[in-house]
Amino acid sequence: TTIFVPRDSAALAVGADEVAQALAAECARRGHTVQIVRNSSRGMFWLEPLMEVQTPEGRVAYGPVAPEDVASLLDAGALTGGPHALGHGLTEAMPYLARQERLTFKRMGITDPLSLSDYEAHEGWAGLKRAITMDGAAVVAEVLDSGLRGRGGAAFPTGIKWQTVLRAQSLQKYVVCNADEGDSGTFSDRMTLEGDPYMLIEGMAISALAVGATHGYIYIRSEYPHAVAVMNEAIVRATAAGYLGESVLGSGRAFHLEVRKAAGAYVCGEETAMLESIEGKRGVVRAKPPLPALQGLFGQPTVINNVISFATVPIILARGAAFYRDYGMGRSRGTLPFQLAGNIRQGGLVEKAFGLTLRELVFDFGGGSRSGRPVKAVQVGGPLGTYLPESQWDIPLDYEAYAAVGAVVGHGGLVVHDDTADMAALARYAMEFCALESCGKCTPCRIGSTRGVEVIDRITQRSNDRSNGRNDQRIPSHQDHAHQVELLRDLCETMVHGSLCAMGGMTPYPVLSALNHYPADFGIEAAVPV
Ligand code: NAI
Ligand code: SF4
Repeated sequence: TTIFVPRDSAALAVGADEVAQALAAECARRGHTVQIVRNSSRGMFWLEPLMEVQTPEGRVAYGPVAPEDVASLLDAGALTGGPHALGHGLTEAMPYLARQERLTFKRMGITDPLSLSDYEAHEGWAGLKRAITMDGAAVVAEVLDSGLRGRGGAAFPTGIKWQTVLRAQSLQKYVVCNADEGDSGTFSDRMTLEGDPYMLIEGMAISALAVGATHGYIYIRSEYPHAVAVMNEAIVRATAAGYLGESVLGSGRAFHLEVRKAAGAYVCGEETAMLESIEGKRGVVRAKPPLPALQGLFGQPTVINNVISFATVPIILARGAAFYRDYGMGRSRGTLPFQLAGNIRQGGLVEKAFGLTLRELVFDFGGGSRSGRPVKAVQVGGPLGTYLPESQWDIPLDYEAYAAVGAVVGHGGLVVHDDTADMAALARYAMEFCALESCGKCTPCRIGSTRGVEVIDRITQRSNDRSNGRNDQRIPSHQDHAHQVELLRDLCETMVHGSLCAMGGMTPYPVLSALNHYPADFGIEAAVPV
C-alpha cells in the first residue's frame, strides 16, 4: 500500500513528520507493508497533516491526522480507504479541489517533489523539450501570445519583458527568480519551491535559452529554509540528469542555476534591491530607468520574474499559448493561484482562472471566517494591498477591474478579517510596517511613514506615551480631527506620487481604503470622498 504524507512546511509545521513516523512504526508493528511517499501539500491547509492512501479508485484522504489517530485509522481499515471520522473520501472529488482549475499547480500534492521520474511522468520537461527545438524569438512569441503577465504582483506582460532582454546586445545575460515572497497571506511561491521545484527549474531554463542567458539565480527568502534545501537538491539532481549545466538536454547551450538566500528585508523583494543584494550589497532600491531588462544584475540584461511567472511557462510551452489564453477574462489571461489566509475557516491554495469573485473565494472555498463572526474586510494583494468591504466582493478578480476601484490583485494573497478588526489600527500598522521596512532612500517613504503613524494616532487619539515617553497628544477638537484626516490624505498623496518604489508608493492603499470604507473606525461620521 502506498501512503502519502506531505513534506511541505505547512504540513511539517503541524506535525507531518511525527505522523509519518507514527504510521511507519504502527504499520511495522502490525506487519503491514507500506510505502510512505512524502509528497507536496495539496494546499488544503486546514486539513494538514493530510494523509492519503492509494486505492484502486484513487487516493482517499484523511485529515487533519495526529500521531495518536494512527492506530484508530488502521483499525478502521484506512489502508484500503475505509471510512473514519477524519475521512474525506476520494481526494480529487473533494469540492475544494474539484472546483479548481489547476494548471500550474496540477502536480501539487500528487508527486514526490524531488523525484525526477515522477516529474517526467506528469508532463515534466515537455515544455523545455519543445523550447529547445525553437529559436528564442519563437519561444518569446509563444509566451507573449499566452497573455501571461507577471505573477509577482505588477502584472507586466512576461513576453514583453523577455523580448527586451532577447533584443539587448550583450555577451552576458542573466535570469533571476524573485522568490523573496514577503506578502502577508501568501505562500504560492513557497509551495512551488518545496512542492514542485523542477517546474521552476524548467521555466527558468526555457527563459534562459530563449533570451540567451547562461546563468540564473533563485533569490529565496531566508525564512524559507525548507524551500532553500529542496531547491538546492533539485538543482543538483536536474544538473546530473542533464536538464541544467553546460549542455541543456544535449542542445549545446549552457544554463547554470544557483540559489541565493535572501537578506531578510521586505524591500529586497523589490527587483532592483534584490539585484543589489545578490551582488553582495545592501538591499537599497535603484532608480529606474535603466530597466533591469537592459541593465540588471552586474549591469547586464536580466530577466527578473516571480516564481509563479516562471513556473507557468512550462505548461504554456507544452500545450501552446492558445490553451493557456483560453482561461481568464479581459486582459487577465490564464489562472492565478489565490492564497486564502487570515481569519478563514478553510485556508489554502485555490488556483482558478481570473474572473471569479472574492465572495466565491472567501465563502464558497474558504467557508467564511474561522471565528464564525461576520467578515468585515478582506485585504487583497499583500500588506500594501487595499482592504475591500462587502460592497466590492462581487467585482471579478481581474487586474483591470481591480485597478478601476483602486485595488490590486497583486500576488493573489488575501487576508480575511472579521468584524472585531479595528481598521484604524490596521491602517496604522501599514504605516508602521513601511517605517520598519523602508530602505531609506527617499523621503516620502522614510519619513512619511513615521509621520503617518503619528497622524493616525492623533486621529484615533491613541497616545504615543508608551512609545516615546512624551505626551503631546491633546484630545483633538472636531476641527482638529478633520484637519488630521486631511493631513493623512495629503501625506498619502505625497507618498503615492513621490516614492521611488512600491513600498512607499503603495502603503497608502491599505491606509486610504481603511479610511474610506470604514470611517467609523477613525471616528468619522461618513466617508469623505477622495
Ligand atoms: P513595475 O510596474 O515598476 O514593474 C513591473 C516589471 O516590469 C518590472 O520587472 C519592470 O522592470 C518591468 N518592466 C517595466 N517596463 C518594462 C519594459 N518596457 N521592458 C521590460 N520590462 C519592463 O512594478 P514593480 O515595482 O516591479 O512591482 C510592484 C508590484 O510588486 C506591486 O504591484 C505589488 O503588487 C508587488 N509586490 C509583490 C510582493 C510579493 O511578495 N510578491 C511584495 C511587494 C510588492
Ligand atoms: Fe526605499 Fe521606500 Fe523609497 Fe522604496 S519608497 S526606494 S523602500 S525609501
